[in-house]
This record gives sequence, C-alpha cells and structure tokens, in this order.
Amino acid sequence: MTPFFATFFLLGLSSVAATTNFNQVYEWKELDYEWPSEASRSKALKDKTFEPDNISPHFIAVYGSRLFLSLESYGGIPVTLVSLPTSSASSAPPKLTPFPSWDMHGKIGDCDKIEEARGLEVDSVGRLWVLDSGSNTCKAKLWTIDLANNDQTKLIHEIDINHSMHDLVLDETPNGTFAYITRWREEHIVVFSLERNQSWFVHCTPGLRLISIALSPKDQEPRQLYLAKSKELYSFSVAALHNGTRRVNPKLIGNWTGPPYRMLMDNQGTVYAAFLWKNYASSWNSSQPLQEQRFREAAGKDSYWPFTIALDQNGTLWMTVFDTNREKPSQRLLKAAVGAKSYMFEAPPE
Ligand SMILES: *[C@@H]1O[C@H](CO)[C@@H](O)[C@H](O)[C@H]1NC(C)=O
Ligand SMILES: *[C@@H]1O[C@H](CO)[C@@H](O)[C@H](O)[C@H]1NC(C)=O
Ligand SMILES: *[C@@H]1O[C@H](CO)[C@@H](O)[C@H](O)[C@H]1NC(C)=O
Ligand SMILES: *[C@@H]1O[C@H](CO)[C@@H](O)[C@H](O)[C@H]1NC(C)=O
Ligand SMILES: *[C@@H]1O[C@H](CO)[C@@H](O)[C@H](O)[C@H]1NC(C)=O
Ligand SMILES: *[C@@H]1O[C@H](CO)[C@@H](O)[C@H](O)[C@H]1NC(C)=O
Ligand SMILES: *[C@@H]1O[C@H](CO)[C@@H](O)[C@H](O)[C@H]1NC(C)=O
Repeated sequence: MTPFFATFFLLGLSSVAATTNFNQVYEWKELDYEWPSEASRSKALKDKTFEPDNISPHFIAVYGSRLFLSLESYGGIPVTLVSLPTSSASSAPPKLTPFPSWDMHGKIGDCDKIEEARGLEVDSVGRLWVLDSGSNTCKAKLWTIDLANNDQTKLIHEIDINHSMHDLVLDETPNGTFAYITRWREEHIVVFSLERNQSWFVHCTPGLRLISIALSPKDQEPRQLYLAKSKELYSFSVAALHNGTRRVNPKLIGNWTGPPYRMLMDNQGTVYAAFLWKNYASSWNSSQPLQEQRFREAAGKDSYWPFTIALDQNGTLWMTVFDTNREKPSQRLLKAAVGAKSYMFEAPPE
C-alpha cells in the first residue's frame, strides 16, 4: 500500500466509525400485519394465504413520520407493501399496516392492484415510487403514492415486460424526471421518462447481468449511475440515458467483497451496500478508490437477504437487520444519525 492510499484508508475508517452509532427502534420476534379483524387473520392462517414466518423485508423507504417496507413475495404473503410509524410510545413493536390500504393489494392477476412491490424511493416532493414486478398475467408497473397529499395513489406506467423487477433510482433533472430500473440478473436497465410516459430498455455491454443500482448525488456533474454485477461495480454517466440511447458501456471501477443486492448513495458521495449471504453491510466513500468499511453486522449465521437500508430527509440512516442467532430469529429496526441525506437532495454548502 502506498502512503497515499494508506492515508485515505485511515481517513475512511475514522469517518465511518464516528458516524454509525445505531439505536434500536423496534424488535420483532414475529412480524404480523394489522388485520381488519381477528377472524380475517384466523381464516388466512387456516387457508395458508398468510404464513407469518415468510414475512421478509425486501426494501425500505422513509418519509416524515412513516416508514415503508416492501416484502419478499413468497407464498403466504397477502400484501407486499406496508407502512410503520418511525416511533411508537408502546413497548410492543408495531404491526405492519398494508399500504396504501388492504384494498390496493389484490391476488396475483389483479392488474390494477399492487402485486409484487420491490424497489421503493421517495422523490423530492414526497411521492413514494413503488416498482411492482407484475405477474404472469400482468405487466410490471410503476406506482406513485403522494405521501404529502392524502396518499393519493396512481398507476403511472406499465412496463412492457413482467417479473424480475428489482430496484430503482430517480434522476430529477431540469428536463424531467427519469427512473432507472434494474431487473434481477438481466443484461439491461429499464429507463422511464415521467414527462414522456415512456420506458425503454438500455443494454449494458458487454453482457452485464446486473443486480443493484445507485445514483451519484444531484450536484455532482456528470451524474454517475453505479451498477453491480455480482461483486463487480461499474459506472457510467447518466447524460447518455436522457437522449434515448439504447446501449451503454459501463466501466469497471472495482470489486465489492460480495454481490450487493442493495446499494444506496447519500448526497455526500458515500455508497451504502448490503450483500447476498453476507452478515455485514459496508460503506464506501466514492471519491476514493473502492475500499469497503463495514458499518453494521447481523448476528448468527449468514442469511440470504439480511438488511434493508434507506436515508430520510433529516440525515438519519434507517435499516432493518435480520439476526438469526436467537432461539427464534428476530427482525430489528435501527437508526443512526449520519448527517447525510439521500442522493436526491443537494448537499449543503461546505
Ligand atoms: C424530519 O424532520 C421533519 C421536520 O422537523 C419532521 O416533520 C419529520 O417527521 C422528520 N422525519 C423523520 C423521519 O424523522
Ligand atoms: C409474463 O411472463 C410470462 C413468462 O415470462 C409470459 O408467458 C407472459 O406472457 C407475460 N405476461 C405479460 C402480461 O407480459
Ligand atoms: C402512461 O402510460 C400507460 C401505459 O404504460 C397508460 O396506461 C397511461 O394511461 C399513460 N398515462 C398517461 C397520463 O397518459
Ligand atoms: C436538458 O436538455 C438540453 C437540450 O436538450 C440539454 O442541452 C441539457 O444538457 C439537458 N440538461 C440535462 C441536465 O440533462
Ligand atoms: C446520446 O448521447 C450520447 C453521449 O452522451 C451519444 O454517444 C449518443 O450517440 C447519443 N444518442 C442519440 C440517440 O442521440
Ligand atoms: C474484480 O474481480 C474480477 C473477477 O470477478 C477480476 O477479473 C478483476 O481483475 C477484479 N478487478 C479489480 C479492480 O479488482
Ligand atoms: C471522502 O473522501 C474525500 C477525499 O478524500 C474527503 O474529502 C471527504 O471528506 C470524504 N467524505 C466523507 C463523508 O468522509
């Protein structure tokens, strides 16, 4: 290691150690929904449309005093999008409230309802964007739910494909809002233009089977899109996506220690990442060469999908952690003041 790198390495370590002091918000031995009645819950348990052990958080987003979780869509999961309060006076952890309502969640094949919620993002005006994977009979969809306006829910677009939708980022430009979407282990991203109400595929050469996605901060020009293929991290400038390009050639910038299923960038250029089958989550200061700092571990044996991660508008990092070491595994919600917001917001002046 050159002295130049060694200095950066130490700086990186100290900044992370100083910023990730987590507080526990809730701990659940068993996650459950807020049911309309005890009878509806018993019936769902009996006919196995509800299997509590299958509830597994997939993505998280935060706005104001509410958190939103999308849930893995195994069997026995009647609702894949729920909300929770960010704090509670009760000692019992809160139940998951179907969001925006029970009624907006259908059975597979109800194309005008939310079928399989995946990636979640809150935009700068307080709309929750929900990526819905669709089903064999329905296309994948994009929903917006206006959190600052009575949770007004709109199906804004249907994508000409279904299944494997994974995560999304939002690029709000003076020329309009774009969503960039990754599909699980596919060699393209989907670009959606809100103003044009159009989506198209952009192939990533050479043959990158992508999993996760992150976008660099708003005030960084040219803005970079980060894509992970297995452990490998690639990037390219999003300017190329605004004009309808159908093919991009991302550049390899380094390797993570595992395949990240979730990457999230803050407005100061730090990337947070969680990996398949790894019981730690890491961060990386993107103005330096790729060098991971572990900022949180889960207890017990490695699980497939141990964390969800989001940033709110007030400089707080929120995450769920799945610990497998107890007599019964537990999910916890943690928060840490990191002083940075999501990539969606401009950084304060130095
Ligand atoms: C962020 O701050 C605003 C204004 O102080 C507050 O209304 C909101 O609840 C806070 N959000 C979270 C997630 O703490
Ligand atoms: C969804 O995908 C399946 C299999 O990939 C395909 O057979 C079906 O036609 C698709 N449905 C729609 C609505 O696109
Ligand atoms: C946007 O496109 C979808 C198809 O993906 C269509 O159903 C919808 O009506 C369009 N919305 C507007 C406002 O034109
Ligand atoms: C907006 O569009 C104009 C004209 O097409 C282009 O010159 C400009 O670079 C675009 N700005 C952004 C941020 O994409
Ligand atoms: C879009 O812009 C990129 C560079 O930003 C350029 O290479 C490409 O040819 C352009 N594509 C179209 C269709 O204009
Ligand atoms: C990243 O890993 C790949 C193998 O997956 C290897 O070929 C490549 O040299 C590594 N790149 C860097 C920058 O470490
Ligand atoms: C990231 O690294 C740069 C360059 O070394 C440094 O100026 C900046 O303060 C670091 N950012 C954080 C959040 O530590």
